[in-house]
Order: sequence, then C-alpha cells, then structure tokens
Amino acid sequence: TPLQDCNTFGIVASADTLVRIRSTADVLEFVRSDLYRGRKVFVLGGGSNIVLTGDVVDAVVLKMEVPGIALAAETDSHWIIEAGAGVRWHDLVAWTIAHGYPGLENLALVPGTVGAAPVQNIGAYGVELQDRFHELDAVDLVQAQTFTLNAAQCAFGYRDSIFKHPPAAPAGTPVAKAQGLGLAGRAVITAVRFALSKHWKPELGYLDLQRKQAEEGVEHPSAQQIFDWVCAIRRAKLPDPAVVGNAGSFFKNPTVTEDQCRDIIAREPKIVHYPMPDGSIKLAAGWMIDACGWKGKAVGNAGVYDKQALVLVNRGTGATSVTGGEVMTLARAIQTSVYERFGIRLEAEPVVV
Ligand code: EPU
Repeated sequence: TPLQDCNTFGIVASADTLVRIRSTADVLEFVRSDLYRGRKVFVLGGGSNIVLTGDVVDAVVLKMEVPGIALAAETDSHWIIEAGAGVRWHDLVAWTIAHGYPGLENLALVPGTVGAAPVQNIGAYGVELQDRFHELDAVDLVQAQTFTLNAAQCAFGYRDSIFKHPPAAPAGTPVAKAQGLGLAGRAVITAVRFALSKHWKPELGYLDLQRKQAEEGVEHPSAQQIFDWVCAIRRAKLPDPAVVGNAGSFFKNPTVTEDQCRDIIAREPKIVHYPMPDGSIKLAAGWMIDACGWKGKAVGNAGVYDKQALVLVNRGTGATSVTGGEVMTLARAIQTSVYERFGIRLEAEPVVV
C-alpha cells in the first residue's frame, strides 16, 4: 500500500501490510490474527508528525479511522467530550466551538488526528492538550486488553508522553528504573475524552494573540473569535500541508537553566526566550535556526520554510518528492550549525520511522 498520501510531508514509501481500524473490536481482532504474530506495529493517524526514511515501513501499519464525536458526560463544572481516534483534530475543535463547548479554540488547525494528539501532547498559543485532557481508551497489544489512562498516567510533558517512550527494559534492571514504563509500539489509542470547563476563560497570553486582539480592538473575545484568530495566525505563517508538504515544527524548543540562558544572552542579546513556571528557560528554536541563516535554504528537495525556520518542507511533488534521507540530512546540518553557534543540541520533534 502506498503511503505518500498518508503522510503530510508527502514522502514516497509503502507498507506491505496496512490494516484499517474503525473500532476497538478491530484492534482486538488484529491482535488475535496471524497478521500480528511477531510483527512490529506502527500506528498511523494523520501522518502529520512523522518522517518516513525507508522505502517500505518495517511494521504492520494500523491506519486509525475510529469515528465519532459526542458529549459523553456532564458534571456541574465540566462537559466531557469524547472523540474517536480517527477524527481529524481540527474537526473536533470546530465541532466543540459550534456546539458551545469552548476550551480547545487555541488548538485550532493543529494537523493530525485525535488519537495522535495525546502522543506528543500537542500545544499551541498557550494551551496544551494536557490542560483539557480527561481520559483515553487504548488497547494493549501485548495483553490483548483494553485499558483507560488519566492525565497523570499519560505522563505528559512538553511534546511528550508515555506513548513516545519504548517499553521498559526487563523489570528491575537499571535501565527500567531510569526510564520507567513506556508504551510506544505497544498501545493503540482508540478514543480520547476531554474535560471542558463550564467556566471558560480566554487564553490570550501568547504574543501573537495579544497583537490580534489589539488589532481587532475586542476587549472580551468569544471562543469563536479566538478560534478565528488562531486560524488566521497559523494560515499566515505555517504552510498548508495540502499545498506544501511538511510535518509542522521539526524541532522542539529546547529548555536551558537560568545560568545557561544568561551566558547565551551575553553572546546573543536578541535570542527569543521564555521563562517557564519551573524556573527553566525555553529558547525559540525557530529564531536560532533563522539566525544561522537557514530560512529558505534547501538540501535537495528538503527546504527550510521561508516564513518559519522551524518548519522543514517538501520542495518537490509527486514522484520528485523529498526523501526521508534528504529531510534528515538537512535536519542534521541545521543541528550542527545551531550547535556550533549556540552550544545547544536541537531535538527532532516528529517521529522518525
Ligand atoms: N522566529 C524567528 N524566525 C523564525 C521562526 C521564529 O525569529 O523563522 C521567532 C518568532 O518571531 C518568535 C519565536 O521565534 O518570536 C517563536 O516563534 P513562533 O511564535 O512561531 O513559535 P514556535 O516556538 O516556533 C511553537 C510550537 C508550534 C506552535 C507555536 C505557537 C514547538 C516545537 N512549536 O512554535 O507548534 O504552533 O509555538 O504556539 O513548540 C508544532 O509543534 O508542530 C507546532 C507548529
């Protein structure tokens, strides 16, 4: 099965086995079938956060297509909204706004699916998935059982969760103790529930949104207005994968200690940085890559987007598309030049397959 249309970078690759999953029962049936015996599994959502680096994916690909969005429950303080893993993330956000359940508006237009959103704890414009998360349902491939996790059990971090880490080494070994239990390759998320507060407050801490608010002269914006602003901001500076292949931000914004930050500022007074609640400082990777002169540059068909240096793009189309190898070569060249100038190692954000 060709995968070029199943990854937003538009990289050419294929799967020798692809199974479409429309329900939890489909996952359980797959686990018990001969297709699964001894094979690795790769869970594919919208394909918007992956780089395919081989011709054929060395795993059974589970293409998540579980549908459905509904108000699952209601308490005095919250609406609980449930969505199937295959629902497009933006469709869920649009549905909640249209039905009068605000809270996800800052996450409008984030590419990908509902099932993929917890994996990297998607975040934008001051809100992260973990701030609105209630629970998720998943299937454990090893035990052939369904299970439910709450937010603490998902171990959310900045663009991180338990689903990004490999299962622990054998219990009791030092490695197992250090890294804890990961669920990468072992769990298939089938549905996610969100807790949206009935006492909604706008989240306008992010500079781009404050600018928009000032421009529009709106003192008390509605969730719908914030939704519209976020869509406009994203459309202005992020490439639409339907037009130019990409996987969103290609690197995480690195965090440093206050001391390290002071050193860097002494050398690079203009560096964009944000103090975090825990006292660490987050640096804008896009600014650093831009400062190294990468904006608009290319290696083969892999390019650095000309309006946002944190985004790598596919400069080819169809059969001339970028290869995963070209993307990784460009990524490494960027990492090297940022390291040489700032002494910071950038970490790739998408999953490299
Ligand atoms: N900047 C530059 N040059 C560039 C790019 C950025 O100078 O080429 C500067 C900007 O002017 C700004 C700062 O760097 O002062 C940060 O840029 P921006 O506000 O665009 O956000 P970001 O840190 O690059 C992060 C997320 C995005 C998210 C936005 C908005 C990460 C890795 N990326 O980008 O998430 O949409 O903030 O909240 O955290 C994604 O994860 O795929 C993604 C798009």
